[in-house]
Amino acid sequence: MKTARYLLFTIAAIGVALAVSLLPNSLADTSIATKQKGWYTAGQANRGHQLFNNYCAQCHMPDLTGAMGPALKGQQFLSAWGTRTLGDLLTFEHQNMPANNPGSVSDKQLSDITAYILMKNGFPAGKTPLAKGAGNTMVLKP
Ligand code: HEC
Repeated sequence: MKTARYLLFTIAAIGVALAVSLLPNSLADTSIATKQKGWYTAGQANRGHQLFNNYCAQCHMPDLTGAMGPALKGQQFLSAWGTRTLGDLLTFEHQNMPANNPGSVSDKQLSDITAYILMKNGFPAGKTPLAKGAGNTMVLKP
């Protein structure tokens, strides 16, 4: 009896391990991202999409893959920013972007744009709006 149970348990454990190891990398990345409670509201990301196209897309491309400016999504972006905080990113953007007219986009608009960028990198939406000062110590680890 005992041996049968042990066997069943072992088989189940192997099954779980297999399932986890078979997860595609991208899916695994997103599931880590969703552990954070929520970084922005869905409304912000929506507004941010339009604002990004107006102010940022001519250099970073509408799909964020980069051209005159670096890609703002994917591995490259996450390895550049994954050890820094949301506050660092907002400050960088405010001081340097758009590169042809730094500081011309308001804090509120930059928050919306940043919400959109985070969404495109697999960070989840939540109830608390992304804003300068709020949650700015959160490390951008998805
Ligand atoms: C005129 C072209 C141009 C526009 C418009 C522009 N950027 Fe950039 N962006 C650049 C260049 C060039 C760099 C790289 C220079 C640097 O890192 O200092 C950059 C870098 C960045 C980075 C850092 C990326 C990294 O991997 O380190 C972020 C974030 C960023 N831009 C966000 C924005 C946002 C948000 C907007 C719109 C408000 C914007 N940019 C508009 C050209 C542009």
